[in-house]
Amino acid sequence: MSVTVRRLIVPLIALGLGLATLAIAAVIVLRPSAPTGAAAIGGPFTLVSHEGKIVTERDFRGAPHLVFFGFTHCPDVCPTKLFEISEVLRAAGERGRAVRALFITVDPERDTPEALKSYLASFDERIVGLTGDRPAVDATVRAFRAYARKAPLKDGDYTMEHTSLVYLMDRDGRFVGSFNLARPPAEAAQELLRQV
Ligand code: NI
Repeated sequence: MSVTVRRLIVPLIALGLGLATLAIAAVIVLRPSAPTGAAAIGGPFTLVSHEGKIVTERDFRGAPHLVFFGFTHCPDVCPTKLFEISEVLRAAGERGRAVRALFITVDPERDTPEALKSYLASFDERIVGLTGDRPAVDATVRAFRAYARKAPLKDGDYTMEHTSLVYLMDRDGRFVGSFNLARPPAEAAQELLRQV
């Protein structure tokens, strides 16, 4: 081996390692947009249910579930959605008894477990209210790539702007797609029951 070749070996190995590192980095970066379409929406959370129990995403495995964000002081969007979801769950009937709909508050300061419990008493009992401390709620909002922002009102009060998307999750807790409520409840219920 000539001196020249030996001098070249070290830089070549360094270059090779560098390229390998780049290739690995590219694979890691590209993985979330892999063609499976299984974008990482959802994820681990630890919150408190309207019954005062600590729950995680694992508690909802085994049956399809809907997830949506809102707050009990919401003037119209949230109550309408809760009503529509109740209708869908009613249409799902006995076959959909294990289905759950997770109403995750974006206003945990006002939405205590007790406040959620009394609010949800007007809706289907398969709807589970979830709250928690602010960091836990914010982390959940981020995990679902949702959006929530406090907006002050003139009288010193505030409202919450938030994502109105309803997420359909399968029995393994994987995101299936956004769930359309703008159709007859029986038709929406069929989509839920296909995941049971
Ligand atoms: Ni709302």
